[in-house]
Amino acid sequence: MRQAGRYLPEYRKLRGDRDILEAARDPDLVVEVTLQPLRRMELDAAILFSDIMVPLHATGTEVRVEAGVGPIVGGPFRSAADVSRLRPLEPEADVPFVLESIRLLRKDLTVPLIGFAGAPFTLASYLIEGRPSRTHDRTKAMMFDPSSPWFALADALADLSASYLRAQVDAGVEALQVFDSWAGALSRADYERYVRPSMTRLFDSIADLDVPVIHFGVGTGEFLPEMRHDAVDVVGVDWRLPLDEALSRLVEGVGDGVGIQGNLDPAACLAPWPVVEEKARAVLSAADNKDGHVFNLGHGVLPETDPATLERLVDLVHAETAR
Ligand code: CP3
Repeated sequence: MRQAGRYLPEYRKLRGDRDILEAARDPDLVVEVTLQPLRRMELDAAILFSDIMVPLHATGTEVRVEAGVGPIVGGPFRSAADVSRLRPLEPEADVPFVLESIRLLRKDLTVPLIGFAGAPFTLASYLIEGRPSRTHDRTKAMMFDPSSPWFALADALADLSASYLRAQVDAGVEALQVFDSWAGALSRADYERYVRPSMTRLFDSIADLDVPVIHFGVGTGEFLPEMRHDAVDVVGVDWRLPLDEALSRLVEGVGDGVGIQGNLDPAACLAPWPVVEEKARAVLSAADNKDGHVFNLGHGVLPETDPATLERLVDLVHAETAR
């Protein structure tokens, strides 16, 4: 999840008014920003400072990230000609700054480094809508139109993310997370028909990598079993379902053998500490201290969060789950 971001004053100071896609090209800055949350909190892992739009930006898609808004794409995708503007990622040539940042970080870090990429639906939504969308109408319209290049687009994005993830592992990341932040806009049937094939393509093509893989979605409680693939070790969930219910849905008809990540509501961290504590304890209790539970927020840290609350939260979780 976004661990840096606007809630850390030291991050805001370093980034200044640079677009995050520009900031992410500077390995010294990437290393520093990745380490910042770890200097304040005893986190169990670090997440690389980058963005899901980086590989698209690096392969020629015109995109910027507007603070307080999100990714804005110039010339939104509508046609097969637009899809053919995408080209495969050549990691050493296109994202050398990411690989260099990972190599530098591995020298400094004492906890595992998590690399990540966007899932095809979430990336496609930015490309098709041209900006963040609440309803994803144009994306669904393309998806539902049998004459549209939807499947070609989703496959191209799956391939882009798969090569990006592979390059991150080759450079030294020790776990991977695939973010499908907006797939929760879909019904289970539509997810299965229009999205799952490209997810299978993505996960099958990284199945040989020897690192744990987390598949995260927001609002995906209605189709958790569909988010499982052979290569997926952990499914990340938002706060809408208690973890025990999410876990029972995850294993239903598919069997166990999967971990679960989540799921404190990020907005809970804006509350007075006793409320944060009560809600965090409820998450831990629903997880029942099981191996294979990764405590996390159900989505990214909100900018107005007091870092002191997160510091206390990390300490609470460690105290309660110490083995
Ligand atoms: O915290 C970290 O440094 C981890 C790195 C990270 C970022 N983005 C940096 C970032 C990660 C893992 C992401 C993933 C990402 N980016 C996702 C998937 C996870 C999720 O939160 O759903 C998505 C959908 C994006 C696209 C994106 N980038 C959005 C929606 C925004 C927020 C825009 C805003 O200001 O409201 C961004 C910007 C962004 N990416 C920030 C950070 C730290 C915000 C801070 C800034 O503007 O400098």
